[in-house]
Formats: sequence, structure tokens, C-alpha cells
Amino acid sequence: RSAVTVPRLAEMRARGEKIAMLTAYDASFAAVCDAAGVDSVLIGDSLGNVLQGHTTTLPVTVDDIAYHTASVSRGNKNALVIADLPFGSYGTPADAFNNSVRLMRAGAQMVKLEGGEWVAETIRFLVERAVPVCAHIGLTPQSVHAFGGFKVQGKTDAGAEQLKRDARAIEQAGAQLVVIEAIPATLGTEVTQDLTIPTIGIGAGAGCSGQVLVLHDMLGIFPGKRPRFVKNFLESGGSVHNAIAAYVKAVKDGSFPGPEHTF
Ligand code: KIV
Ligand code: NA
Repeated sequence: RSAVTVPRLAEMRARGEKIAMLTAYDASFAAVCDAAGVDSVLIGDSLGNVLQGHTTTLPVTVDDIAYHTASVSRGNKNALVIADLPFGSYGTPADAFNNSVRLMRAGAQMVKLEGGEWVAETIRFLVERAVPVCAHIGLTPQSVHAFGGFKVQGKTDAGAEQLKRDARAIEQAGAQLVVIEAIPATLGTEVTQDLTIPTIGIGAGAGCSGQVLVLHDMLGIFPGKRPRFVKNFLESGGSVHNAIAAYVKAVKDGSFPGPEHTF
């Protein structure tokens, strides 16, 4: 296959092809994801949980993400490489840009940051300077202490309206992609219909333009509590390659996520 690019994601949404994304943190797993047809690999700050053993993503640094982005880039051929801007690395547009440059020099083709209306100005600043941006709204794990825990978002009318305002603000600011985490499935569908950019859901229902999971969760090797939206694809897959290929197929044919994975 040929390289997955940012414009290609928009084309996939336009023609109704679902986008399959997974996290990856090293060259070997990135190579398997790429070979199994994953469209995009995310060097998520979830590495703070699954690699480093922290209970939140807050301790993760730009150095950590850059190291793993460089590793993933060496193993990957054609998947789009997206790297998370970690907590505290995008408090100002200038900080966001300087840290994005570090991640792009390490091999990222797009950066992801958490937030809605308040990051719109920062998104515009990045996009104008040739940094493609994926926003992340809903349950944004860097806000765990602001939320008072890892809680499903957008459940009240006011919460749902704020989520829609956030989604519109980031699209207007130029973000080319948005991850939506842990919201009611009906709201995931509504936000997707409101936007023209692709939406990538994680616990946001099957109505999104694509899906993402944490690699260690979908392989069933993370010892912590398994969130409702996770499915173990290794149980029936038999091998890591087959598990990831089964995930890609299930995202593409719309069979994942099922109702049992949604809020
Ligand atoms: O860090 C991460 O893995 C993420 C995904 C869960 C979207 O942000
Ligand atoms: Na993240």
C-alpha cells in the first residue's frame, strides 16, 4: 500500500471508509501495525500508563514522546505517524510550536493536543506553520484532576452543547482530525455529522469516522482495569499480527465498536 497522508484521511471520511488507528511506542510493534493495515499509529501519552506504570499521563515529557516517536518511525513504513503533545507542553502557542517541531524532527507527521475552544488559537498557530493537528476532546486524560477522575463526558445537555462548540472551534481553527473519547454514542454520531473533518472515536460509538485503541489494551496485556470501550483482539486472533489485522477489519466493516463497548 502507499503512504497514508493527512489529505488521505479526509478522502477516507468523504468516501465513507473507516479509519483504523492504534497506539504504538516502539519499532517492532509499529512494523506489525503497519503490516496489518493500520492507517495511523499514535505515539500516545498513554505510554505513561502502559510503558511507565504511572496512574495518569501527567508525568510524561516531550523527551519521552520524542524518543518513542523516533522508534516508531524507524519501524513504520506507510501508516500516518501522530505524536501526542504531553501535559504542560502547549500552554502557549509558542511552546506548542517549539515542542511540535521536536516531535516532527523525531518523525511525527501530525501532533495531537487535548482541548476544545481554549486550544483553538494554538491550533491555528500550529496549522499556519505547517504542523498538522489532531485535537482530542471529551474525556481528555490530562484533565483528570480538573475532572475529578476518568469520567464519561457530554452526558448532560450543557456538556453535550459544550462538546459540540469545542468540536466546531477546533475544526474552524484548522485541525485536520479529532479524537473523541468516552462520550455517549449518540453524541459521537451528532458531532461527526456536525463536522467535515474525520472523527476518531474511543468509547464514542460506531458513528465516528474511525476508531483508536491503546495497543496494550486491545492485546489484553495491560494489568489495570479494562475500560468498557476496550475489546481484546488477541483472545481470538491467536497472534499479535492477526489480532491487529482483526481489529483493522472490525473497524473497517463497522463491527467494532459494538453496543457493549459504547456509552
Ligand atoms: O494517549 C493515547 O493513547 C491517546 C489515545 C487513547 C487516543 O490519546
Ligand atoms: Na493521549
